[in-house]
Amino acid sequence: MKKTLPLTLLLAAALRASAVEAPKADPVAAAYKSKCAACHAKDGAGNPAMVKMLKAKPEALNLVDAETLDKKDEDLTKTVDIGKGKMPLFTKEKLKDVSVKDLIAFVRSLAPAKKEAKP
Ligand code: HEC
Repeated sequence: MKKTLPLTLLLAAALRASAVEAPKADPVAAAYKSKCAACHAKDGAGNPAMVKMLKAKPEALNLVDAETLDKKDEDLTKTVDIGKGKMPLFTKEKLKDVSVKDLIAFVRSLAPAKKEAKP
């Protein structure tokens, strides 16, 4: 399953890109773009430059791989809430009008391929 992921992700990213450019402002998407995309990339697959800078494993910054998607919402929420390693914490004040829960849901929406996994 892991091997087919990059291609489907690419497709998903291409589809997403047109959605993100739409004029309708989505506060969650905007927050992700401004606060998370620098490290995790617009498509959630991780920014290679940041992987290098943080000396992190590429998988660590990838939020749309099976390993991350298999984790429970509450665990992912906790990572954002209290931080983990080089992942900065994002307090309510920092996130203002969006919740961590919304952001996690958004991250999951970046990876539709996994949810609609074909048999
Ligand atoms: C400065 C870079 C940076 C920024 C900005 C950042 N992250 Fe992270 N994030 C990381 C790193 C590094 C990790 C891996 C932490 C670890 O496991 O040690 C991580 C891990 C995560 C994880 C856990 C993934 C897993 O597999 O358990 C989630 C969820 C996450 N980030 C969401 C977010 C969200 C949402 C935002 C924006 C509000 C964000 N991150 C902003 C660097 C960043």
